[in-house]
Amino acid sequence: MNCTFQSADWDTYRMDIHNPFVELEPPGEEISAVDAALKALNLAGIIPHTMYDQGRFLLFRNAVKELFEIPWTAITPRMQRLIWAINAITQPQNMIAAGVYCGNTFISNAGAAVGPGAVYTAKNLIGIEIKPEEAERAERNVRKIDPTGVARIVAADAVEFARDFPEPINLLYLDADGAGGRGKGVYLDITEACLDRLPHGTVVLAHNSVNCAERLAYYLEFVRDEANFRASVNVIFDGEGLEVSVR
Ligand SMILES: C[S@@+](CC[C@H](N)C(=O)[O-])C[C@H]1O[C@@H](n2cnc3c(N)ncnc32)[C@H](O)[C@@H]1O
Repeated sequence: MNCTFQSADWDTYRMDIHNPFVELEPPGEEISAVDAALKALNLAGIIPHTMYDQGRFLLFRNAVKELFEIPWTAITPRMQRLIWAINAITQPQNMIAAGVYCGNTFISNAGAAVGPGAVYTAKNLIGIEIKPEEAERAERNVRKIDPTGVARIVAADAVEFARDFPEPINLLYLDADGAGGRGKGVYLDITEACLDRLPHGTVVLAHNSVNCAERLAYYLEFVRDEANFRASVNVIFDGEGLEVSVR
């Protein structure tokens, strides 16, 4: 099954990408928007329930605000909460995030298992960034929150890394752009490169399902085909959007 979850205010909910921690709405409204999205994912059979620890989430958010160097990010507060909650609920042992820039999107996933907000123990949480200098900054950021090394950044092409990763991947987060002139089309290359290691229940998150929908057309067609993914929901509660798919 595939469907769309859309909030009434998705196109007026706007952030300043240089000030990602500015409160855009009262906390209750942010929680309600994310709860509604989680409910849609639960109804589609993508996540087993919708409960997550609000207090732990705030510990995570405050740590990133205090410790991370973030020149810009398009991850809205709603999106940060949703990504963290999906990881807290599904608890992936192996999580790979492709195209992590300064690491903010990566830690939105990994922060459910490392740092002050951790709610479970993971095996490998790996962020892939093709630009070595960006990968270095992301790794510096991540080390401030996770001294253990379970969460780490690798400077590599995510297509090659996904192809060579030897274990099952329980959650794949896609946000890579531009490599090889393929633009956001690289999402499909990455997914296909590791498809044989995405077991039943693996969740794949694809950022920019709204503002890059045209460039992602082949990817979106692929994950919305039930021959490839059991269910896929386009979550539209901000201008970027997140396609959430389950194997
Ligand atoms: C637009 S940024 C993601 C930023 C994120 N959406 C945010 O708001 O914080 C995309 C990143 O993907 C990286 N990238 C592009 N192609 C890649 C590839 N094939 N493998 C790994 N990283 C890649 C780029 O260098 C860039 O840092």
